[in-house]
Amino acid sequence: MELVRNTNFSALLVLLSCFCLQFGSATDTITAAKFINDSETIISNGGDFKLGFFSPPNSTERYVGIWYAEISVFTVVWVANRNNPLKNSSGVLTISEDGNLVVLEGQKKVLWSSNLTNSVVNSSALLLDSGNLVLQENTTGAIIWESFQHPSNAYISKMKISINVTSGEKVQLTSWKSPSDPSIGNFSAGLEMMKKEHSI
Ligand SMILES: *[C@@H]1O[C@H](CO)[C@@H](O)[C@H](O)[C@H]1NC(C)=O
Ligand SMILES: *[C@@H]1O[C@H](CO)[C@@H](O)[C@H](O)[C@H]1NC(C)=O
Ligand SMILES: *[C@@H]1O[C@H](CO)[C@@H](O)[C@H](O)[C@H]1NC(C)=O
Ligand SMILES: *[C@@H]1O[C@H](CO)[C@@H](O)[C@H](O)[C@H]1NC(C)=O
Ligand SMILES: *[C@@H]1O[C@H](CO)[C@@H](O)[C@H](O)[C@H]1NC(C)=O
Ligand SMILES: *[C@@H]1O[C@H](CO)[C@@H](O)[C@H](O)[C@H]1NC(C)=O
Ligand SMILES: *[C@@H]1O[C@H](CO)[C@@H](O)[C@H](O)[C@H]1NC(C)=O
Ligand SMILES: *[C@@H]1O[C@H](CO)[C@@H](O)[C@H](O)[C@H]1NC(C)=O
Repeated sequence: MELVRNTNFSALLVLLSCFCLQFGSATDTITAAKFINDSETIISNGGDFKLGFFSPPNSTERYVGIWYAEISVFTVVWVANRNNPLKNSSGVLTISEDGNLVVLEGQKKVLWSSNLTNSVVNSSALLLDSGNLVLQENTTGAIIWESFQHPSNAYISKMKISINVTSGEKVQLTSWKSPSDPSIGNFSAGLEMMKKEHSI
């Protein structure tokens, strides 16, 4: 009797630890097979940031964003589909067949994409404890896209604001239209190139 109970207990422990290990290793990652829907979130490994669907105050539109997991005042630091919200809870964040990170409506229509043209077949997205969401090539671990290169309105430490002097391409912050509307607002903060004026 005692023996049977012990065995059952060990079996339960093994089962629990398998579950926890699997759960723990998967919750900061999005793959083609392990996508998230409107009611699900992923959390960075150390528990600092969460990624999921949200509605801003006084809005019913749904956006994919990253927010602080441990600050009681809901504070969004990044928004994916800021100019293209969902009207309902049919949204999915996943990896498309061509390896891009995408926000889909009803599993079909692409509302937002990481937009890489050089597609990589085996990729997965990882939410880091810095708050950076990185798209990685599985086999090499190379980072092919990262949210820190496409900021919204929040600067968080380790982000780099920059300008490419050849192409003029900027990594800059852009304001929300209003506290209820994350779409691109009127203000930006970044670096400017100064044109040299000809002086006489
Ligand atoms: C999201 O997925 C979970 C688990 O797979 C499921 O229980 C839930 O109903 C889904 N929610 C929506 C809005 O699709
Ligand atoms: C939301 O609406 C309420 C009531 O109209 C208003 O008091 C509040 O300031 C609004 N909040 C935001 C963030 O717009
Ligand atoms: C969600 O909204 C889209 C576009 O408005 C619509 O096509 C779709 O049927 C809706 N899905 C659900 C589950 O309501
Ligand atoms: C992706 O590229 C298309 C076409 O160039 C553009 O219209 C769209 O805004 C881009 N999306 C993002 C999220 O940059
Ligand atoms: C990429 O790596 C993740 C995590 O190891 C894995 O779950 C996923 O299946 C891989 N994707 C492909 C296409 O092999
Ligand atoms: C992608 O991953 C699958 C299994 O996950 C593997 O069979 C395939 O060879 C990989 N492709 C590349 C280009 O690495
Ligand atoms: C800057 O832009 C040029 C031209 O598009 C490109 O070749 C170069 O790789 C870019 N540099 C960086 C650091 O991204
Ligand atoms: C943004 O710019 C538009 C057009 O110039 C203007 O109508 C609007 O009031 C501005 N909004 C804010 C919040 O400054």
